[in-house]
Amino acid sequence: MAQIKFFDTTLRDGEQTPGVNLNKLEKLEIARQLERLGMDVMEAGFPASSEGDFLAVQEIARSVKTTAVTALARAKKSDIDTAWEALKDAEQPRVHVFLATSPIHMEYKLKKKPEEVLRTAVEMVSYAKERFPIVQFSAEDASRSELSFLAQVVEAVIDAGATVVNLPDTVGYATPAEYGKMFAYMKEHVPNIEKADLSAHCHDDLGMAVANSIAAIENGATQIEGTVNGIGERAGNAALEEVAVALHIRKDAYEHTSRLVLHEIKRTSSLISKLTGMTVPGNKAIVGDHAFAHESGIHQDGMLKHAETYEIITPALVGMNATNLVLGKHSGRHAFNTRISELGFALSDAQLQEAFDRFKRLTDKKKEVTDDDLFTIALDVQTKHDPVRTYEVKALQVTMGPQNLPTATIALQTPDDGIKETARTGHGTVEAIYNTLEALIAERVTLTDYRIHSVGKGEDALAEVHVQLQVDGEPFTGRGTANDVLKASSHAYVNGVNRALRAATLKKTQPIT
Ligand code: KIV
Ligand code: ZN
Repeated sequence: MAQIKFFDTTLRDGEQTPGVNLNKLEKLEIARQLERLGMDVMEAGFPASSEGDFLAVQEIARSVKTTAVTALARAKKSDIDTAWEALKDAEQPRVHVFLATSPIHMEYKLKKKPEEVLRTAVEMVSYAKERFPIVQFSAEDASRSELSFLAQVVEAVIDAGATVVNLPDTVGYATPAEYGKMFAYMKEHVPNIEKADLSAHCHDDLGMAVANSIAAIENGATQIEGTVNGIGERAGNAALEEVAVALHIRKDAYEHTSRLVLHEIKRTSSLISKLTGMTVPGNKAIVGDHAFAHESGIHQDGMLKHAETYEIITPALVGMNATNLVLGKHSGRHAFNTRISELGFALSDAQLQEAFDRFKRLTDKKKEVTDDDLFTIALDVQTKHDPVRTYEVKALQVTMGPQNLPTATIALQTPDDGIKETARTGHGTVEAIYNTLEALIAERVTLTDYRIHSVGKGEDALAEVHVQLQVDGEPFTGRGTANDVLKASSHAYVNGVNRALRAATLKKTQPIT
């Protein structure tokens, strides 16, 4: 059975999700997990777009060993040079050069004639091939391109040295039948097509990204691109976990497999959801919390009699309901350290100490500390990134009652003015906190979204808050966890503002090209 290569672009196309901005440590943590998941290729970013992206790609390229690391470059020498600088230390460096081939993109966006696009594509692939052992070329908006012109471009870039050619459905417009036909056409009309992997890259604007990816496989694609949880530009990309599990469960129909380690799917999904703030809907295929929940009496009855009456995928296949050991007040450092490493974290001694202190504080308030709690604590410690300038809540006091206006008093460590204190009221306690922080923070901050959920079950569960902020007009996400909802809310807000400060520092060192 032939193996399909999986190309993950969570850290590039996925990071283009509005409001998602991951710091370097968070990207590294995701990259390590993608490696554990057995991804063939990961696109770590777009190095020419910002200093932050460049540094993250470089760090990932140096750390990841068993997954090939690639990065995006426009069909420009300077982008390819920057990508090489970021990727040259990778075990298997490869570059992803893209240029649009559809009439609408060529005329209005590029303002180039088709012959010029063809020439540029060939020149830039040849240029990239002087540095990179593997060059991938993407014909942006391929699915709306003229087939004979597209075939000409594909043949020419393969002759120029591209060994992977990607045909994206950039705007999520194609139907599965049309998208499949485009691949069949290339197989039939491009004489050197066997020298390259054909790749599919689908967006989900019409909800067909996964179906289109499968149609591409049925018509000769050997690589599938997408993101975990399907995050990405606009409606997102094809959800890779869905493609992988569909191939596995329906191998009778598709006759292709992947080398993904399927039981790492749930952990990867949770990690990405936590770090990006993009919550996974409960009913989402494969990774949603309710994807394996059977509610109706008839279904439950059927399940009890014979699980396969209603269950085509076992939760264990994708790593759900894995052992959930419980630690408590009397658990020692050895048990704690062992469990943290079993959960896949490699913390330094100082980080382990910090995580252990947080665990101990939690056991004062929570009888049973679950894997979910430990995962959250370890992830917080592992991905804590101190920006050059930072805000920190030093003290928080909230009052409310039947006769009182909800009021928050906060002492805030500020980057430039030492500790500042003030108090504000609000219609509710969270609003009071946010009004107070807004008064203390120098940047112009507007809250655009606020979400809260509990980590695990029970009244004493940790609270996890995700916020979307506009900081000086730019969107940022923030995340905070605590065993108190109000504390978690203040952490999330300050975390979002600190991300904005860090992004501003990085932009200052190298403007976006
Ligand atoms: O959707 C798209 O066309 C892309 C390209 C850059 C490959 O993301
Ligand atoms: Zn895309």
